[in-house]
Amino acid sequence: MVGYTPNPGHGAATIAPEAVDHLDTNECPYDLPPLLKDKLAHFFQHHLFNNRYPDGSHGDLKGELAAYVMESAGQPLTVTADHLTVGNGSDELIRSLIIATCVGGSGAVGVAEPTFSMYGIIAETLGVPVRRCGRSSATFALDLESAQTLLQPAEGPPLRLLFMVHPNSPTATALREPEIEWLRQVPPEVLVVIDEAYFEFSQTSLVAEALTRPNWIILRTFSKGFRLAAQRVGYGIGDPQLIATLERVRLPYNLPTFAQQAALVALQHRQDLLACVPDLLQERQRLHQAFSQWSALQVFPSDANFLFVQLAAGSVPAEIAGETLAQLCQAMQHQGTLIRHTGGGLRITVGSPEENDRTISRLLQALKGQGLA
Ligand SMILES: Cc1ncc(COP(=O)(O)O)c(C=O)c1O
Repeated sequence: MVGYTPNPGHGAATIAPEAVDHLDTNECPYDLPPLLKDKLAHFFQHHLFNNRYPDGSHGDLKGELAAYVMESAGQPLTVTADHLTVGNGSDELIRSLIIATCVGGSGAVGVAEPTFSMYGIIAETLGVPVRRCGRSSATFALDLESAQTLLQPAEGPPLRLLFMVHPNSPTATALREPEIEWLRQVPPEVLVVIDEAYFEFSQTSLVAEALTRPNWIILRTFSKGFRLAAQRVGYGIGDPQLIATLERVRLPYNLPTFAQQAALVALQHRQDLLACVPDLLQERQRLHQAFSQWSALQVFPSDANFLFVQLAAGSVPAEIAGETLAQLCQAMQHQGTLIRHTGGGLRITVGSPEENDRTISRLLQALKGQGLA
């Protein structure tokens, strides 16, 4: 079993990160503004009872979350606390979903690779089988024929849980209509998870449809657009009956009081916090243009706050492509920029303008080092 290596090369979040550009975990490059930090410090100093358990119902947070989900849906929508569950990062919700549907030998999990690795890792740590289907190598759209085989396994437990990412990591692609159409015909005994971790960047969501389908659930996180990766807050949106089942399997005090308050304050200041998103999307465009100038790389369109690049066909013999990508990744790390080698390519987070300048010059250096520029 291969476990997840959290933040390879990172120090603790309390160590100033200036020396290294952390562009390997798709966080927002900007910390909370000082005003919000002051508010949270004041809360810690004057309103937080460290001797008391947190609010196990996440009541205040759910109230503000419901308002945000409705406001950002782009269409009229009714969301209440009953449609919401809150986790210690969306990682916790992923685990709860697997426990609720598959543990005890009753089901298998399906993923479309390449995708977010934690689905498979958590399932395997719980002894749950993982079935994998593929994607188009040109567009990374779901290979619908191979996806269909997930639903009708020749042997083993039936599929009970299907993870889709919208937009996907590492490929950065949002689900398109033929894939969504295919998801609509997934039988009701299979729970479809649509992970919208990058919603604040993609601004595309299936939340309205998910609320009409009892076997769909949306996952989101505060770790990306909301700049709160250190506080570990994720949430799920779905049919109240499904949410009630998830609430039954979670631990009673899963989210510390301070993390709940941080998410609440972030939501209350969402306009200020999310104001950096358009700038990051412009920076994404700038990186895309820069990478596109180098013939050794193929750069894919992105709906998220990161770019996925592969070696262009013919730039190196196929049998050394993986090794070459690993060396490029290492060369970046030696120069002080952490990126991720995964899914047959390199995943590079959009950082601040200064970080992105360094990414461009360091990646060019790395390509030169391999004789590719
Ligand atoms: C697609 C996807 N889902 C979930 C997560 C985990 O989010 P959280 O920090 O809320 O556990 C990530 C983190 O990178 C991700 O990329």
